[in-house]
Amino acid sequence: MTGWTWEYEGYEPADQRLRESLCTLGNGYFATRGALPECSADDIHYPGTYVAGCYNRLTSKVSGRQVENEDMVNLPNWLPLRFRLRDGQWLTPETAPLLEHRMTLLLDCGVLERRTRFDLGGGRVLAVRQQRIAHMGDPHLGALRTEFTAEGFSGELEVEALLDGGVTNSGVARYRDLDGHHLIHVHAGTVTPETVWLRCRTRTSDIRVGMASRLTSDAPVTVRNKNPRTTQHALLDLTDGHTRTVDKTIALHTSRDPAISDPLHAAVDRVGRAGTFEELLASHRTAWAQLWRRAALDVAGEPGRILRLHLFHVLQTLSPHTADLDVGVPARGLHGEAYRGHVFWDELFVLPFLNLHFPEVSRALLRYRHRRLERACVSAQATGRKGAMFPWQSGSDGREETQTLHLNPRSGRWLPDHSRLQFHVGSAIAYNVWQYCEASGDMEFLHTKGAETLLQIARFWADAAVWDDTLRRHRIKGVVGPDEYHEAYPDASEPGLDDNAYTNVTAAWVLMRARELIDALPEPRRRELSERTGLDRGELERWEDVSRTLYVPFHDGVISQFDGYGALDELPWAKYRERYGDIRRLDRILEAEGDTVNRYQASKQADVLMLGYLYSPAELRGLFDRLGVRLDDEIWHRTVDYYLHRTSHGSTLSGLVHGWVLARARRAEAWEFVQEALQGDIADVQGGTTAEGIHLGAMAGTLDLVQRGLTGLETRDGALWLDPVPLPELSSYGFAVRYQGNWGVRLHLERGELDIAVPSSDQTPIEVRLPGRTVVVQPGETRRLVLPD
Ligand code: BGC
Repeated sequence: MTGWTWEYEGYEPADQRLRESLCTLGNGYFATRGALPECSADDIHYPGTYVAGCYNRLTSKVSGRQVENEDMVNLPNWLPLRFRLRDGQWLTPETAPLLEHRMTLLLDCGVLERRTRFDLGGGRVLAVRQQRIAHMGDPHLGALRTEFTAEGFSGELEVEALLDGGVTNSGVARYRDLDGHHLIHVHAGTVTPETVWLRCRTRTSDIRVGMASRLTSDAPVTVRNKNPRTTQHALLDLTDGHTRTVDKTIALHTSRDPAISDPLHAAVDRVGRAGTFEELLASHRTAWAQLWRRAALDVAGEPGRILRLHLFHVLQTLSPHTADLDVGVPARGLHGEAYRGHVFWDELFVLPFLNLHFPEVSRALLRYRHRRLERACVSAQATGRKGAMFPWQSGSDGREETQTLHLNPRSGRWLPDHSRLQFHVGSAIAYNVWQYCEASGDMEFLHTKGAETLLQIARFWADAAVWDDTLRRHRIKGVVGPDEYHEAYPDASEPGLDDNAYTNVTAAWVLMRARELIDALPEPRRRELSERTGLDRGELERWEDVSRTLYVPFHDGVISQFDGYGALDELPWAKYRERYGDIRRLDRILEAEGDTVNRYQASKQADVLMLGYLYSPAELRGLFDRLGVRLDDEIWHRTVDYYLHRTSHGSTLSGLVHGWVLARARRAEAWEFVQEALQGDIADVQGGTTAEGIHLGAMAGTLDLVQRGLTGLETRDGALWLDPVPLPELSSYGFAVRYQGNWGVRLHLERGELDIAVPSSDQTPIEVRLPGRTVVVQPGETRRLVLPD
C-alpha cells in the first residue's frame, strides 16, 4: 500500500461487508458500496446504492405496535455482472477457489480496482480485473470495466449483466423485523441490445427512479426480457494469454433532480451521450485532482494515510455536487443503512471542516436546515413551545424521525427510545451557522437565512428556560444530553434530565450570539425580521437575561453532566470490564442484566467535555464568566479527569472529542484517543457497525482535529487566530484553506515553525493572530513564524 491506496488482500467472507463500506464509491449525489458485481445480497455480501436525500416512509408492526420509519432507500443495484465458462457454474468467491483476490481503492483518482484469479481446475485460471468509478465530474454516471484473461486454456466465457430492481433495505440485522420493501412498479426494457433501462418508484414518497445501462464489448450483446428483469448477454471467445474487455456504463436519475423532464428519459439520454470508459476515467480523474487541491491535507506516515481515506469518504458523501441538492449530513455517509440515512447533530463535526474548503457545500447543508425551519417551529408549537425545535433525527421534510422503540440485540427486547429529547441539536445548527459565516464572510446568508435560523433557535431556548427562585437561576428541564445513555432519573416516571451542562452552556451561547447578531443587522433587515417574527425589545432583553443566568450544576468541584449526576451510583468499571471485555455499549449490557445505565455515573460519550471541543479555552472561560460561574484551568482539568474515568466510548465521536480536548490540555493520553478516532472505521472499533455505514462525523472530525484542533485555528472578528498545541505523534503537517475569498491559503507546521502562504490575488491581506502577536500576510506573500515553546 502507498500513501494513496487502500488495499485488501485475500478474500475474508467475515470482513466482506466492512470492506464494502470502506470501498464505497460516491460523488455526493449517489454512492455504491464496494460489493462484488457477481454477488447479490446474502449473509456475506450487501450491495447498496443510495442517492443523497432519497427517503421513503413505511409502517411496520413490532412488539404489537405500529412503528413508522423513514429510510434512505436502497436503489436498484447497477453493478450485477456475472460470468461463467459456457455451461459451467456462475463464478463467485463462494463457488470457485481463488488463487488471488485483491481490492484496491485508488484514493487519488477515486477508482476501485479488483483483481481475482479463479482456479477452474486442470491448470485453467480465469483472471478478472475490474475498475469502477462513481463519476465525480458527472454525478449521474457510474462505470465498471471488466477485463477477463484466460491462463492455461482457451474457451467461451458467458457474461451476463443486469440492473437489479429486486433489492430491499436489509443491510442492518437489527432492522429486519421492519418492512424494507421501498421500491414498487419496477419495470425494465430495452433501447438497443447494448442499452437497457429500469424504472421504479418509491412506495410512499413517490420518487421516480430511472436507470440506464450500456454494455459494450467486442462480442455481440443480446438481450433477454423477462420483466422486471432484462439481462444482457455476451459470449466472449477467450484465447490463452489474451484479455477481453466488457464495459458497463450506467446513468441514474430521480424525479428529485433539477433540469430533467422525467428520470428515465434523462438516464437513457445521458448514458447514450456518455464517453468511452477511457474518456470517463480521464474526466473523473480531473475532477478528483481538483478536489484534492481544494482540500489538500499533508500529514506524514500512517496517520496521514488514514486521514486521506477519511477525507476521501467525506468528499464522496459531501462533494461540490451536494451544493445543488436539498440534503443534510447523513451520519453514516451514503455507505450503508445504519441510522436509516438520517441527519443528526453530527454536522457539528463536519461543517467546520468543510467551511474552510467548500463553503458552498456548507451553505447548502445549512439551507437544508433553513428549509425545515418552519417545520421545526411547528414541532415546537405542537409541544407548547416557542421558536424552532429541530428534530434529533431528520430526513425528508424535517419532522422528528427518531424511532419510538429500539431493539437491544443483547436482550432481544424492544425498548422505548427517548433520544429525541436531545434538543441540543438546535445549538449545533446555530453554531454551524455562525462558524460558516465567520469562515466564509458570507454576510448575505448571515443577515437573512442565518439570522432567521439563529433567532428561532434562541427563541426556543429562551422559552424552554424556567426561573427557579431557590437557585436564583434559569433552568432547562426534561432534556437528554449528548451522552444518550442517560434518558431519565432512576425510578422517575417521566423521561428527561434537568440542566444538562452542555445544553445550558450552548443555549447561553446561542442566546448571546443571536442577540449580538440582531443588534448588528442593517436596520432595514432588522425591521423586516422583527415584522415577520414578532420579535421585540422585550424578547431581546429576556435573551440577554437568560444567557447570563442559566444554571450550570457542579458537584465535587467538577461541572456536573446534569443536575444530580453526582448522586448516581459509581459503576464497578473493573468488574464489568472483566466480565464483558468490551463494554462500549454498557447501556445494552446493563439492560440485558435487568438493570439500567440511568442509575450510574457512566457516560456513553463526551458530554460536558464537548464544551472543550466547541470553544477555545479563552472563549469557554468567557462564557462561564458571563454566566457568573468560575471556570479556571484547575476546575476544567479536574472535570476532564472526572469524566475520562466514567465514559465507555460507545460512540466513535467520543474518542475524537477526548483526543481533541486532551491535546488542548497538553495531556499525554491525547494520542491514545486520537488513535482510537483514526482507527474507528478502519478497525471497526465499535464492533460490526462500520459494515452498516461509515461514521462520517468521526471521519471529518479527525481532519478537523489537525485543521483546527492542533493549530487552534479560529476564524473570528475578521482574523485568523492560531494557537498551536504540540502532539508529538502528529508534529508535522500542512493543509490549504479557503478563507473569506482567499483560495489556497497554505499553512505548514514543522519543528516549531509555522509557514503561511497566501496566493496572489486582489483580495485584502489576511490578519493572523497568534498569542501575543499579530501579523498581516499580503496576497502573494509567505511568512515564517517561530512559535513559542
Ligand atoms: C451517538 C450520537 C450520534 C449518532 C449518529 C450515536 O451513537 O451517540 O451522538 O449523533 O450516533 O452518528
